[in-house]
Amino acid sequence: MKHPQIKHPQIKHPMIIQGGMGAGVSDWRLAKAVSRAGHLGVVSGTALDQIFVRRLQTGDPEGFLRKAMKHFPDQEMTQKIMDAFFIPDGKPKTEPFKAVPAISIHPDRLTKELLIVANFSEVFLAKEGHEGIIGINLLEKIPCPNLYSLYGAMLAGVDYVIMGAGIPKDIPGILDRLALHKNVSLKIPVEGSAPEDDYRAQFDPGSFFPRKPPVLKRPEFLCIISSVTLAKMMFRKASGKMNGFIVESPCAGGHNAPPRGQLKLNEKGEPVYGQRDAINLETIKSIGLPFWLAGSYGSPEKLKEALAEGAQGIQVGTAFAFSKESGFSKSIKQRAIQRITQGNISVFTDPKASPTGFPFKILLLEGSLSEAERYHKRQRICDSGYLRHPYKKPDGSVGYRCPSEQESAYIKKYGNPEDTKDKKCLCNSLLANIGLAQIRKNGYIEDVLVTVGDDLQPISNIPKNGNYSYSAQDVLNYLLKNL
Ligand SMILES: Cc1cc2nc3c(=O)[nH]c(=O)nc-3n(C[C@H](O)[C@H](O)[C@H](O)COP(=O)(O)O)c2cc1C
Repeated sequence: MKHPQIKHPQIKHPMIIQGGMGAGVSDWRLAKAVSRAGHLGVVSGTALDQIFVRRLQTGDPEGFLRKAMKHFPDQEMTQKIMDAFFIPDGKPKTEPFKAVPAISIHPDRLTKELLIVANFSEVFLAKEGHEGIIGINLLEKIPCPNLYSLYGAMLAGVDYVIMGAGIPKDIPGILDRLALHKNVSLKIPVEGSAPEDDYRAQFDPGSFFPRKPPVLKRPEFLCIISSVTLAKMMFRKASGKMNGFIVESPCAGGHNAPPRGQLKLNEKGEPVYGQRDAINLETIKSIGLPFWLAGSYGSPEKLKEALAEGAQGIQVGTAFAFSKESGFSKSIKQRAIQRITQGNISVFTDPKASPTGFPFKILLLEGSLSEAERYHKRQRICDSGYLRHPYKKPDGSVGYRCPSEQESAYIKKYGNPEDTKDKKCLCNSLLANIGLAQIRKNGYIEDVLVTVGDDLQPISNIPKNGNYSYSAQDVLNYLLKNL
């Protein structure tokens, strides 16, 4: 068993963070390009186990995954994964992908190994061949895979962990322990549980490797926050050192924090944010940790403004999401960039679509599930399960339900039928967005659904050499042009 040598360089915080964009939009190629240019490239760890096995089933044509796995500390583990999922030359295009079991609080050993190996490989590839820094983005809202994902990323020397979509106060302490290969646990929220119930994901790295790997680097931990209360709470109550905040406004792509107070909708049906949602940067500054601003900050003017506010820099998602290195399929990038530069496309903040219950921004792109007709054509099925909610069954055991699964199945699991209304299966759509759509027995191919931030102007402004394409370096040149 060989172990990668983890370096411990002094971290100098970057000015630009390329936002972690799931699933697979910020993949290792995008993160590598940003990191090489001297900024923080971030890979998304969301659903990476599923992405990894689908990539293996398409034959890993350039051999990158197999190369990364060769550097993994336990070759028996990687061989098991290869045996289970690798298809030389790829599966026939009309055949469905073999799935991994939906994640639960206590996954089986293969699922754990897969999460560790997939996250290791993504970070390994992003870091390979240069000295730049790499982060990983995970969601507090999808807690079950996180212990294994974090450990896999740390085995590859990840420099930053960035988490939001919840209150990840246990994560800093977990990073401290994982660096020493100590056992860790993470409380998993279970709907309907009693105050005395304690459901936990557990992970003991010692039981995974017969010989202890060397001590790992403890990555910097940045928490994505959208309120001062959350920032203060994380600072006071986090289980270990907090290294900074990303202050994200509801203009950002992906999921947004819901507005405070009672939900009000505008005439288009979008959540209305008010004074109570504004973030007082003076209070954030007074905490004394570095912070970055995110959500419609992807322009040279907004970068200057952020620096003048005392921020370390900005986190940008939307502009990078359509760069040629991102994981979005070529067809999505081309169609979206074309429509955006022509100025005839809009973004809808959908309060209902996401099974998480959080508002989710959707690009109203024709030929995607944003069109009602296409949405209704899809038969509901929940087979990836990342957004399933654990719930306590009457017999005390834990079940799993997703508001976007078949209504009848959801109701059988004691779910409220109202929750299922207008829900979209983000798991299947987001995988379709990156060219890894599942194919159903009846020939239906899972449809795409694209998320972006409110501000599409940067995509129009970035020079494109006469075609509908630009690189991550073009985004950086644009952002930095006034400095
Ligand atoms: C396609 C896309 C997917 C995203 N997915 C995630 C995600 O999985 N986790 C997360 O914390 N943020 C996610 N975000 C938010 C970005 O990381 C970033 O904070 C945000 O895009 C910044 O605002 P901007 O879109 O105006 O640049 C996503 C954004 C986009 C555009």
